[in-house]
Amino acid sequence: MSGKNLISAEDMMRFKGRHVLITGAAAGIGRAMSIRFATAGANLTLVDRNPALLEKAATQAATHGVEVRTHTLDVAQHQQIEDFWQKLEDKDLPDTLINNAGIYPSSNFTEMNPSFFERTIKVNMESAMWMCQQFIKRRLAVGGIIINVASIEAILPFKSEMVPYAMSKAGVLALTRGLAHDYGSKGFRINAILPGAIRTPGTMSMVKKALSGVKLSMWRTGYDFQRRLALRRWGRPDEVATVTLFLASGLASYIQGALIPVDGGFLSS
Ligand SMILES: NC(=O)c1ccc[n+]([C@@H]2O[C@H](COP(=O)([O-])OP(=O)(O)OC[C@H]3O[C@@H](n4cnc5c(N)ncnc54)[C@H](O)[C@@H]3O)[C@@H](O)[C@H]2O)c1
Repeated sequence: MSGKNLISAEDMMRFKGRHVLITGAAAGIGRAMSIRFATAGANLTLVDRNPALLEKAATQAATHGVEVRTHTLDVAQHQQIEDFWQKLEDKDLPDTLINNAGIYPSSNFTEMNPSFFERTIKVNMESAMWMCQQFIKRRLAVGGIIINVASIEAILPFKSEMVPYAMSKAGVLALTRGLAHDYGSKGFRINAILPGAIRTPGTMSMVKKALSGVKLSMWRTGYDFQRRLALRRWGRPDEVATVTLFLASGLASYIQGALIPVDGGFLSS
């Protein structure tokens, strides 16, 4: 491309006319993504199981002059996902899907029961898979962009009693790479991010639980965790949101099937 025809980097980051669907949009990283995409001009469809917080996030995003629709649904329920996509008219189809909703359950492995395991897998992994299936089905002729939110825990376990969580997020990585391989030729760009040490309501409640416990091992985990952060600080939700903005933009047009840590250097330390 000659210099004359080159689209400016600024224009490549403009999302006017784009439509982004974000799950788990009511709090933490999902909420930050909603605001960040709204500042870039994207219309939004925000999904969460918490209607009150979802409305608050939507109201804040809408202050940036974009259209915001909200849908209360439990992404762990396959039927609810099907109903949601069935009701969605073609004119309201998003061009970008961000599977972010997730939970942080922990359980002693030897005492874990099947319903605990099933819930973890359903919320953290199956939800992303069924959302991807519906999105790809509906956009098969035109392609689209998918960003799945995994975790550093999928690659490097550091906190005890998180085996099902780590398994669910490892599944998200496999889902991402498999779909990126199969649907790249059909115009889909599909990538995953691996956040770590981001200060959100979810991680803060985990930290609170750990600090209120008397187990010395939990304090030790916290100390080790902190020491691995090369940037020596926790991240802000917006520091994850900006990476998804980049991945969803034309600036990332040749990134496919990538697993991108956003973790202050945790995995590399
Ligand atoms: N914060 C981190 O450091 C970190 C690290 C690794 C991975 N992650 C991943 O990032 C994502 C967001 O994490 P966060 O820290 O912002 O969490 P959070 O708990 O602060 O927010 C999660 C949001 O997802 C929603 N949600 C949960 N289960 C849902 C369901 N079944 N249906 C619909 N909505 C649901 C919640 O209501 C909430 O609004 C998760 O997938 C998490 O595993 C975060």
